[in-house]
Amino acid sequence: MFKSHTCGELRAAHVGQEVTLAGWVNLRRDFGGVIFIVLRDRAGLTQVVVSAETAPDARTVAAEVRNEYVIQVRGVVRRRPVDQVNVEWATGEVEVEAHEVHILNTAQTPPFYIYDDAPVDEALRLRYRYLDLRRKRMQRNIILRHRTVQFIRAYLDQHGFLDIETPQLFKSTPEGARDYLVPSRVHPGKFYALPQSPQQLKQLLMVAGFERYYQIARCFRDEDLRGDRQPEFTQLDLEMSFVHRDDVLDLVEDLVTNLIPAVVPEKRILSPFPRLSHAEALARYGVDKPDLRFGMELVDLTAALAQSGFGVFSGAVQSGGQVKGIVAPGCADYARSEIDTLTEIAKGQGAKGLVTLAFRADGVKGSAVKFLSEGELAEIAVRTGAQTGDLVCIVAAEEAVVGAALSALRLTFRDRLALADPQLLAFGFVLDFPMFEWNAEEQRWDAAHHPFTMPRPNTYEAMIADPLAVLSDAYDLVCNGYELASGSIRVHDPKIQMDIFRVLGYPEDEARAKFGHMMEAFSYGAPPHGGMAPGIDRLVMLMAGENNIREVIAFPKTAQATDLMADTPASVSARQLKELHIRLDL
Ligand code: AMO
Repeated sequence: MFKSHTCGELRAAHVGQEVTLAGWVNLRRDFGGVIFIVLRDRAGLTQVVVSAETAPDARTVAAEVRNEYVIQVRGVVRRRPVDQVNVEWATGEVEVEAHEVHILNTAQTPPFYIYDDAPVDEALRLRYRYLDLRRKRMQRNIILRHRTVQFIRAYLDQHGFLDIETPQLFKSTPEGARDYLVPSRVHPGKFYALPQSPQQLKQLLMVAGFERYYQIARCFRDEDLRGDRQPEFTQLDLEMSFVHRDDVLDLVEDLVTNLIPAVVPEKRILSPFPRLSHAEALARYGVDKPDLRFGMELVDLTAALAQSGFGVFSGAVQSGGQVKGIVAPGCADYARSEIDTLTEIAKGQGAKGLVTLAFRADGVKGSAVKFLSEGELAEIAVRTGAQTGDLVCIVAAEEAVVGAALSALRLTFRDRLALADPQLLAFGFVLDFPMFEWNAEEQRWDAAHHPFTMPRPNTYEAMIADPLAVLSDAYDLVCNGYELASGSIRVHDPKIQMDIFRVLGYPEDEARAKFGHMMEAFSYGAPPHGGMAPGIDRLVMLMAGENNIREVIAFPKTAQATDLMADTPASVSARQLKELHIRLDL
C-alpha cells in the first residue's frame, strides 16, 4: 500500500509514530522555512508540516506541489501546539512532520476549488464531474447512498428476499413514458426497449415461485426531466407473493423506519406513517404527494359560498367546481407586489385568479372584500380559523385546479415562512387511487398506475360500466412533498386482466401481442402477489437534504438528458448505422 493510515485516522494516540500518508493536496501554504500541506483522501484531512531545517529535501519537493497534486508523505505524528488545534477536523489535534515527500502525480489547476463547497456553475461541475465528486458534499452524498443501499440489501436479505437480476434488453413496458430503444443488428428492423422498470419480470418471478424478490434496478424513461427525474434512475424494486396490501406497506414502513436512524440519525420521522386515501390527500392538501411536515390544510368553503353574490365563487360552484382556501399565518401585511406574486403562482396552475383576504386589526382587506357580505366574511373567518394578522388565500375553480393552485401556494408559504422542519422526513402512504384516468387528448382510458394493478375488490364489478368508479389497490409512499415509491397488489386472475385491457381499449389480439407472455404465464398458476418500488435517488436526495437527484447520482444527466463530461448522446459512424440497418432522416 502507498499508505499506512488514511487522512482521517490519526489522533493523539498516534503521536510519535512513523506513518505514510497518500492523497491529494487540498491546500498548500508556503512560509519559506516551513510549508504546510493539507492532505486529503476519502477519509478526511491531515495537516503535514515540511520544515527546511529538519527535512531540506522534502521541503524542496513540497515547494513544487500545487493543489490537487497526488503525493505521498512519510513522517512522524506530533501533537499540534494547543492554540493550533483544529476542532473541526477529526485529526485536528495532530500533524505529521514530514521527512519525505514524493509527487505521485501532478495536476492542472482545477476549474473550481475542490477544498470548499462554494457554489459553482452546475454545467461546469457536470463537465468536470470527477473533480466535483472530490468535493466534500458529493463525497458525503455518494457515501450516504452506498450506506443506504447496503442497509437495504442486508435488511431484505434478513427478511427472506432474493436479489435477482433482470434483463436490460427487453420489451416495451407500460409505465407511461417513452421507451429508450436499442436496435437489433441481427434482427433487422427490430428493437429492444430498455425497461422503464422490471415490473413484468418481477411478476414473472412470482409466477416462478421465488415469493420474495428485490433488485436495486436501473430503469430508463424518455420523459420530460425535472429536479426529481432522470432518464436513467434507480429503484429498489421489490415484489412479494401471498400478501395483501398492508403486508407490503408494513414491510416498507419497517424497512424505512429502521433505515433512517441507522444511516441519517440526525433526521426524525413520523411513526407510524400516516395512511390517507387518495381522495383524502386531495381534499386536505390538493395533491397526491403532500408535504406532511406542516399543517395549512385546505379548507372547503364551497357550501358556505355557493350562494354568494360574488360571481367568481357562486359561478365556480354552479359549474360543478369548488371554493377552497388556506390560511397563511402572519401574512396580512403582504404588499401588493407580494400578492401579485401569489396570484401568478395560482395562475401558473390554471386558476383564473386568486382572492386574498387580509385579516387586519382595522378590518378585512382585499380587492374582493366589497363583493362579500359581512356574514360571508364572518363565515370564512370561522371555517378557516383566520386570526387578526393572517392572510386567507381562496381559489374558486374546478377541483383539479383548486387543488393544484392551493397546493402550490401552500409550498410557497412553507418555504417563505420556514414551516417545515428540515430535519423531519414526514413519510406517509397514499392509498385507494382511482384505477383509470381519462386521457382527454387521446379520448381513452389510461391505467392510473399500470394495467397489472388489482382493482379494489368491492369496486371491480362496476369496471366496464363506470371505469371512474373503480378504485385500485395501488399505493404510494410520499415524503416531504415527493412521491417516493409506488406499488400495487397485482392482478393474478386472467379474466380480470382481460377486462382491464378492454377498458384500456386494447383489443384482445393487441393485448396478447403486447403482454401475451404475461397472460400465458398467468395461466400456469400465478400466486396472489404485490410489490412496490421506492426510487433510490429520491430517497437518498431527501436523506441528504438535497433538492435535486443529480446531487446524489455520481454521473447524472442534465435536464436536456445529456452528459456534459462524455458529451453524450453522440453521433455514431456510418458503418455502425449500416450494420444496424438504420438510415437517418434528420
Ligand atoms: P413508478 O413508475 O411510480 O412505479 O416508479 C416508482 C418510483 O420510481 C421513482 N421514479 C423516478 N426517479 C427518478 N427519475 C425518474 N424519471 C423516475 N420515475 C420514477 C420514483 C417513483 O415513485 N413498476 C412500478 C412499481 C411497482 O408497481 O412496484 C413503477 O415503476 O421514486
